[in-house]
Amino acid sequence: MEPAAPPVWVVGGTGYSGLEAVRLLGRHPGFRLAHVIASPGAGERDLSGIDPLFAPGAIRSVPLSPNLLEEPPAAALLALPDDAAAGLAADLLERGVRVVDLSGAFRIREASHYPAHCGFEHPKPALLAEAVYGLSEWQRQHIASARLVANPGCYPTATLLALLPLERAGLIDPQSPVVVDGKSGATGAGRRLEAAYLFAEANENCRPYSVLDHRHAPEIAQALGFGPERPVWFAPHVLPLSRGLMTTLYLRLRRGVGGPDITAALSGSYRSSPFVRLLGEQKWPEIRGVVRTNRCDIGWTVANGAAVVVSAIDNLMKGAAGQAIQNLNLMFGREETEGLPS
Ligand SMILES: NC(=O)c1ccc[n+]([C@@H]2O[C@H](COP(=O)([O-])OP(=O)(O)OC[C@H]3O[C@@H](n4cnc5c(N)ncnc54)[C@H](OP(=O)(O)O)[C@@H]3O)[C@@H](O)[C@H]2O)c1
Repeated sequence: MEPAAPPVWVVGGTGYSGLEAVRLLGRHPGFRLAHVIASPGAGERDLSGIDPLFAPGAIRSVPLSPNLLEEPPAAALLALPDDAAAGLAADLLERGVRVVDLSGAFRIREASHYPAHCGFEHPKPALLAEAVYGLSEWQRQHIASARLVANPGCYPTATLLALLPLERAGLIDPQSPVVVDGKSGATGAGRRLEAAYLFAEANENCRPYSVLDHRHAPEIAQALGFGPERPVWFAPHVLPLSRGLMTTLYLRLRRGVGGPDITAALSGSYRSSPFVRLLGEQKWPEIRGVVRTNRCDIGWTVANGAAVVVSAIDNLMKGAAGQAIQNLNLMFGREETEGLPS
């Protein structure tokens, strides 16, 4: 007889990525969704009132309260703003709860990778040092034994899955910057009241934001092992889509590197990675091909010493809740793909 499914909380379960985690966990065969938790000031809410994909009365969220912590779960997914996630992760870990944090609170380890204008004073430096960066395909073993997993950001997930194989194989010219052109649907910004995200402003539009100033650039640089001398030039844009994300990477290659080298590096890296689909040279991913899946689709081309690599994911799935469940599967010794659409 299989042991009882470990209870799991989704904290921030009324937000965009939290709702996705609730949906996935609600029908996961290996875990029991124990509580859906929202901000402390909120009352109890029926999730069908927030997202009509939920049946009326099926799942309710409760406000975060100290009482809840008296009965801690086996694991918690935190889909919260950074500061709330940092504090709660510490409380949960003290009670023996394993944590997958979807926020940026535990991703950037070194001050040198932090954008200069942000300053760097982490509220939980010991936990920051302990956190495992949860890019599932590249950290399976460390994730399996981790207490605290820092789920990667959405743009870094798409970028790193395409870039890490080429960097590790030494194919990229170390003298040239890596250029990342990112485009995301509007849920990437969370559910927020801001003029730029009103329908009339976002619809039929494409808007750059935080160009060369986005916190995902240092996250990408850190995961690649780049120091300040190797910049990542990152320009994100919002597309008039609810969900889905694409990154187009422009790379100068080392002398003599050609298309077959790129193909070999990518294929060698993802032979046993069911969520990474390599489309091939001159075969381009599309956002509609990955939406509502946990997949990352990658295509590429090489000409005149340069490569362009394009990757696409669903920002709420492989970019957030899907990868969080993938990591939870790894942490609890389940099949990596369990409960996830590929
Ligand atoms: N959206 C994405 O594509 C994406 C991708 C990767 C990572 N992330 C990260 O995931 C986290 C959640 O993002 P999101 O886009 O899902 O955000 P969101 O839609 O704005 O939802 C935020 C959630 O956090 C809750 N919350 C806010 N302040 C809280 C507090 N002080 N204590 C407890 N709960 C609080 C909210 O509850 P109420 O409903 O009660 O306000 C809501 O459930 C963020 O750190 C974000 O950077 C998001």
